[in-house]
Amino acid sequence: MDLKEHWEKIYNTKQFEETSWYESRPEYSLEIIRSLGLSPEANIIDVGAGNSFLPDHLLELGYKNIHVLDISAKALRDSQARLGEKANKIIWLESDVTSFKPEVSFDLWHDCAALHFLTSDEQVENYVSVLRASLKTGAYCLLSVFSENGPDKCSGINIRKYATSDLEQLLKADFDTVRLENKDHTTPWGAKQNFSTGLFRRK
Ligand SMILES: C[S@@+](CC[C@H](N)C(=O)[O-])C[C@H]1O[C@@H](n2cnc3c(N)ncnc32)[C@H](O)[C@@H]1O
Repeated sequence: MDLKEHWEKIYNTKQFEETSWYESRPEYSLEIIRSLGLSPEANIIDVGAGNSFLPDHLLELGYKNIHVLDISAKALRDSQARLGEKANKIIWLESDVTSFKPEVSFDLWHDCAALHFLTSDEQVENYVSVLRASLKTGAYCLLSVFSENGPDKCSGINIRKYATSDLEQLLKADFDTVRLENKDHTTPWGAKQNFSTGLFRRK
């Protein structure tokens, strides 16, 4: 299956509010990001951002170097349209994360619900090697993926589930674990989806 085609179709046919991942305020991520005490100049990347409201809130918090990456051009265009003039303050990256070539070193890598769409070992290995190459020593990585108790599919395609210990295992060669937990996300129609989340620090 062509992943880009899949995601362009999703964003061209669904309103954001009709997607299971809609959150007008991604409070969990914002709370953790605020707790890190990053400088306003920190390079922050939201990977598989879709048209999430996270960048809007990061701008409000005063961050100046926000990078938004997604495989879907339509998702990025929707985000830019919503932000209006403020979109000029963000660096937009249309790319498959597994072949992304970073031009700066990031202080924070944020991924909410993108990694779990990589279902083959090769895709996951490529993701980890891009992640490793993208972060400076001491930089943070915050990942949220469907847990072992989460859904089997999302947006009609298969996903890979992770226990928090799987996340730790995946990154342990290059990252120290700061915090692991499970949390429920409530979809706009009231269903619960269980996530594994991990905050890690680049060794
Ligand atoms: C479930 S949505 C989550 C969007 C956003 N992070 C949020 O929480 O609202 C997954 C996103 O990952 C993107 N995505 C999926 N596979 C990707 C890949 N290989 N590279 C970059 N983005 C990808 C999709 O286009 C989609 O926007």
